Amino acid sequence: MSREINTNYLVIALPSGKLFKPSIRLFEEVGIDLKGGKEINRKLAFFDQEEEIKFVITRPKDNPTYIECGVADIGIVGGDVLLEEKKDVYKLLDLKFGKCKMVVAAPKEREQKKYYKNNGHRLKVATKYPRIAADYFKEKGIYVELIKLYGSVELAPQVGLADMIVDIVSTGRTLEENKLEIIDEIIPLSAQLIVNRISYKTKHKRITRLLQNIKKFISLESDKIAEW
Ligand code: PRP
Repeated sequence: MSREINTNYLVIALPSGKLFKPSIRLFEEVGIDLKGGKEINRKLAFFDQEEEIKFVITRPKDNPTYIECGVADIGIVGGDVLLEEKKDVYKLLDLKFGKCKMVVAAPKEREQKKYYKNNGHRLKVATKYPRIAADYFKEKGIYVELIKLYGSVELAPQVGLADMIVDIVSTGRTLEENKLEIIDEIIPLSAQLIVNRISYKTKHKRITRLLQNIKKFISLESDKIAEW
């Protein structure tokens, strides 16, 4: 049987972008051969034939979609994407890398007390995460206008597109360089291991074995992993 249609293969979806390298590293640390992953240019699938694993590389935001519909069995996804996309997947494990937090931030010169008041006009909030932002402001009882952006969100307050932003902060450098400050922390985030609900039953033994190896590695190396 060709490896492309061998259903015994465990299909693992890796996100491109910031979480790609630490994800590759994690699987290598638990003994999986990712040689193919290091050679990739635009090749979006590669195999560990011995272990019968197929890796696919997805856009970070698409990753839970592949898992939800079962074309991939397990995947690594940022906590931000998981929260925003609300896909029906089962969360297996907090992987402890890719740590960041979802925050509300606004220009430094704004007076603290007035952050959520804008003299009658509805506050404009720019974000890549409209669901998370909507839930946050709804819970606070604050009526805002959300402006969906696809990146460089920190630009929006500078050019008058928005009063504030909801975005992830990792080192804090982007906020600092764009003269923004955190006015509230919504939630801490990190990379998560997720699984398709049916795969978890049909490929239970293989997934559990892999999960145990990853758990063991994380418990031994948690300090090191946090730096990835
Ligand atoms: C993310 C995020 C912030 C930045 C935070 O953007 O949306 O802009 O990283 O990182 P820092 O706190 O370490 O500065 P990303 O780099 O993914 O680019 P984007 O704005 O184009 O989405």
